Amino acid sequence: MKLFHTFSHAILALSCASITTACGGGSEPYTPEAPTMKLPAKKEQIVGTIIPSEMKSILAKNTCLGCHKIDSKLVGPSFLDIAQRGYTQKELVQLIKEPVPENWPDYPPMAPMAWVEGEQIEAMAAWIAALPQE
Ligand code: HEC
Repeated sequence: MKLFHTFSHAILALSCASITTACGGGSEPYTPEAPTMKLPAKKEQIVGTIIPSEMKSILAKNTCLGCHKIDSKLVGPSFLDIAQRGYTQKELVQLIKEPVPENWPDYPPMAPMAWVEGEQIEAMAAWIAALPQE
């Protein structure tokens, strides 16, 4: 019985480690929810079902998911909120490279993401532009 207990803890630790990696290498100093064990798993579920896996890996690789979630506020506005502004793909590419913090007065300014590969910026911008608008 004791052995089983230790084992299940190991599994728990392992699955947490992989969730952290998927969310951007554990480098989420801004995430206010980080200390609660339950939320990352939930976040992962939401993100996993709505963001196509290819897009998710681009967003994760470029650290976007450290600050943006699909449908709720994190450090930055959710991708759905951004989509409601009706930007074109071209405008979004420009905003990712050179954010305009005045557009989101309730948030801290986003750092310019000029280092992100052009092709990936295009793909992310196209994806955001195509999100449903209410
Ligand atoms: C360190 C946190 C952080 C990271 C990393 C980050 N963002 Fe942001 N983002 C923000 C914040 C905060 C805002 C709102 C304030 C602003 O626009 O400056 C924002 C705004 C935006 C906007 C809206 C711009 C506008 O003016 O309406 C887009 C689009 C966006 N982010 C996309 C991305 C993409 C794509 C990535 C990854 C390449 C990314 N962000 C990475 C924090 C971040």
